[in-house]
Amino acid sequence: MSIPDVSDKSLAELISLRGQRAVVTGAGRGLGKAIALRLAEAGADVLIGDIEADLAITAAEQVAEAYGVRAIGVAMDVTDGSLVAAAADRAVAELGGLDIWVNNAGVFPSIPLLEMSDTDWEKVFAVNARGVFLGAREAARRMSAAGSGGAIVNIVSTAGFRASAPGLAAYVGSKHAVRGLTRELALELAPMGIRVLGVAPSFVPTEGNMMAHAAAGMPAGDDDTPPTPLMLSGPIGRVGVPDDIARVALFCASDLSAFMTGSTLLADGGSTV
Ligand SMILES: NC(=O)c1ccc[n+]([C@@H]2O[C@H](COP(=O)([O-])OP(=O)(O)OC[C@H]3O[C@@H](n4cnc5c(N)ncnc54)[C@H](O)[C@@H]3O)[C@@H](O)[C@H]2O)c1
Repeated sequence: MSIPDVSDKSLAELISLRGQRAVVTGAGRGLGKAIALRLAEAGADVLIGDIEADLAITAAEQVAEAYGVRAIGVAMDVTDGSLVAAAADRAVAELGGLDIWVNNAGVFPSIPLLEMSDTDWEKVFAVNARGVFLGAREAARRMSAAGSGGAIVNIVSTAGFRASAPGLAAYVGSKHAVRGLTRELALELAPMGIRVLGVAPSFVPTEGNMMAHAAAGMPAGDDDTPPTPLMLSGPIGRVGVPDDIARVALFCASDLSAFMTGSTLLADGGSTV
């Protein structure tokens, strides 16, 4: 199926996700939760998957409460194909289908190269790269079977475009992989009416991000600690907030971006210019 021309739709219709069903991985907190909230505000029913079941369930309750959509929280480890498939099946069974899949779950441990074990490397790739492959495959299988197309949004990073900081070799490698996967999947899935886009955030303080920074001995950049140049290197001159990323993800998931596939959009305050 081809991706239709939507130029006769109003702006409100283009941004609306009413009647659509979305899965967001790693959405118990952080960027994923912000994305789930914006998708729900646009009218989508949402399945929130997270390896932390409690976080997923609480976030789903908050999303449902905020926007009156159906939201379910599901324990899901994106590295396990059977759990990813089970979550996709739940979306189809309980929400009635699957139109949007956001591959957001990611990990970012900082480990100096000389100390990085094979297992360290593989753990990062298992979540950040294999998790995206598994999510995209399970989503595309169901979207293709339903024959109504869909959108897959991969949360990449500016680390998918350039080096980041010492200790992030596995992270930077995995995010470059996701950016490449975004291009290739766009090519392969377009004939099924499925668009694939990436969103590449720069530094955004989130719970996981701050823990990773603290573990690496980097300053937090909060009210008590001056931000590092790494955090504020963009022309916009402030650190991002989760909603800066969520709005771009909504754009990618909606018909506003109907003529786009394969791109990874920088949401980085201009820091990668
Ligand atoms: N925050 C940033 O500065 C930033 C910048 C660029 C890219 N990103 C990317 O954005 C995404 C979200 O980052 P965040 O800062 O919100 O992180 P976070 O740690 O705050 O949240 C990540 C969520 O993913 C979940 N998760 C971890 N492993 C999982 C797994 N195997 N299966 C399912 N869920 C899992 C965690 O439980 C957590 O709820 C990641 O892909 C990250 O690489 C973040």
